[in-house]
Amino acid sequence: MSVKPNVGEELTVRTIGFSDLPQVVAIERRSFTSPWSLGMFVLELTKPSGICLAALSAGAIVGYVICARYDEAYHVMDIAVDPDHRRRGVAAALLDGVIARAGEDANYTLEVRVSNAPAIALYERYGFHAAGRRPRYYADNGEDAIIMWRAIGTPWEL
Ligand SMILES: CC(C)(COP(=O)(O)OP(=O)(O)OC[C@H]1O[C@@H](n2cnc3c(N)ncnc32)[C@H](O)[C@@H]1OP(=O)(O)O)[C@@H](O)C(=O)NCCC(=O)NCCS
Repeated sequence: MSVKPNVGEELTVRTIGFSDLPQVVAIERRSFTSPWSLGMFVLELTKPSGICLAALSAGAIVGYVICARYDEAYHVMDIAVDPDHRRRGVAAALLDGVIARAGEDANYTLEVRVSNAPAIALYERYGFHAAGRRPRYYADNGEDAIIMWRAIGTPWEL
């Protein structure tokens, strides 16, 4: 279920450190209308069971993913790629990195705005399926969230 990066550039994926956060926050602010604060990233990085990865190209961070561990699933909390580096397989490399660390058989869940077609396409490519809706989940514009799951052995087609 992985997607091979279609990049012309070399990508490295590694754990985010606190010193990476200025670059991460800069991408976050270019990517979302209601971006996470620095403190929200710090909180996630202090959780020992989380998976927080950065993708680097030519020594600079071009994307990141923040994943928290819950009892039954990993929750993909945040993923973004610098607008200048999109559609080159960076998000795919990050999700490959999460799955490599958490395990192909782990369960994954996330919420995504109903209007976010690029992200929904990415997640569907990775085997996520819509499993419900959270009405007015996003406070900035009252948009609904789609709840998606990637869970091995779930009879989604029933
Ligand atoms: C969603 C996002 C992370 C994708 O990052 P990306 O590095 O451009 O994605 P990739 O190049 O790895 O794409 C992998 C696959 O996802 C799908 N995909 C990604 N972007 C897409 C788009 N704009 N339109 C359609 N499909 C898309 C495609 O299947 C793609 O494979 P392909 O290029 O071979 O067709 C990026 O658009 C982004 O940062 N958006 C703003 C932040 C955001 O919305 N995050 C998600 C919050 S839930």
